[in-house]
Amino acid sequence: MLKLPGLVDVHTHLRVPGAAHKEDFDSGTAAALAGGITQVLAMPNTAPPIADAAALDAALDLAAAQARCDYGVYAVTTAGNVDTVHALAPRVAGLKIYLDATFGDLLMDDTSVWMKHLEAWPCGDGAPPIAVHAEQRTLAAVLACARLAERPIHVCHVARREEIELIARAKDAGWAVTCEAAPHHLMLCTDDLPRITAGGAHPGRGEVRPKLVSAADREALWSHLDVIDCIATDHAPHLLSEKDSDTPPPGFPELEVSLACMLTAVHDGRLTLEQLTDRMAHNPRRIFNLPEQPDTHIEVDPDAAWAVPLQGWQTRADWSPFAGMTLRGRVGRVVLRGRTAFEGGSVIAEPGTARDVRAARCDV
Ligand code: NCD
Ligand code: ZN
Repeated sequence: MLKLPGLVDVHTHLRVPGAAHKEDFDSGTAAALAGGITQVLAMPNTAPPIADAAALDAALDLAAAQARCDYGVYAVTTAGNVDTVHALAPRVAGLKIYLDATFGDLLMDDTSVWMKHLEAWPCGDGAPPIAVHAEQRTLAAVLACARLAERPIHVCHVARREEIELIARAKDAGWAVTCEAAPHHLMLCTDDLPRITAGGAHPGRGEVRPKLVSAADREALWSHLDVIDCIATDHAPHLLSEKDSDTPPPGFPELEVSLACMLTAVHDGRLTLEQLTDRMAHNPRRIFNLPEQPDTHIEVDPDAAWAVPLQGWQTRADWSPFAGMTLRGRVGRVVLRGRTAFEGGSVIAEPGTARDVRAARCDV
């Protein structure tokens, strides 16, 4: 067994308030622990979205009662909360800005509103990051806006060659940009769609934002590994019945396979263990100003090969786009603050035993 730090996932959808049938802090943090993750940052495209103090209070109350591993919650921008959302900064993991269409109704179109949000959000030591969903030309636009506003930004789920090349250029020029890539964009591409969709019988199962892109795009991510600061799951749970409907929501559940995806890449010689722990633990903690977790580690068998099943997961979504693939790396045990939280395939940590990553610091 190999000992690694507890992993940090900076991009997790936990669906409450509003859609506990897909996931909540109980099932979602059970899935996180099963995947070796001890801190999750929950995205704000819930119902209602985390756009004001009342919604944030509701999400944090649910998290405090349900979570089995440590958590933070993002706030989200809307056209209507320019004057108010920044007051939530001390209590949130970050500010999410949706600049391309995806699940939820939070798209921000007007660049003058982007600028107001960017400039109103606190910056400097300890300020929670601004994270953007921005693909292709939208990415170029928001890089420019963030530069004008003199705000650092974190780019979510980079998928394409043109995007990672642009971020590399911005970093080379000294712009304050960080980014994450998701295991599915590093490990899958459009060639995987026949397997994921059962030969086209279930097309909705292949839907994710950003979409799965070409093998050449996937390889461009690997050749720019030095530009990728974090590997984040974008765990986006939707039930198979929803994925198989006429209006399939985009998203892949991923908390329970992300480490195995990356350990498979280590096995294949695509990254080192040190590069893995930098991107799945140390860099996320640094970029998002997250507290250390004392007496916390995970134990993994890095080479154990296993066939990914379609169902039988901790996540309420209970399916996987990796089903049918063989991955390497099994989590044997997770220790969180000195207590065994997961062992032998069972989640041991109880709901309500976790910590809010912002609880200790309300002075940003
Ligand atoms: C996410 C979701 O389901 O909330 N879906 C997805 O395809 N990634 C939204 C998002 O992160 O864009
Ligand atoms: Zn997401």
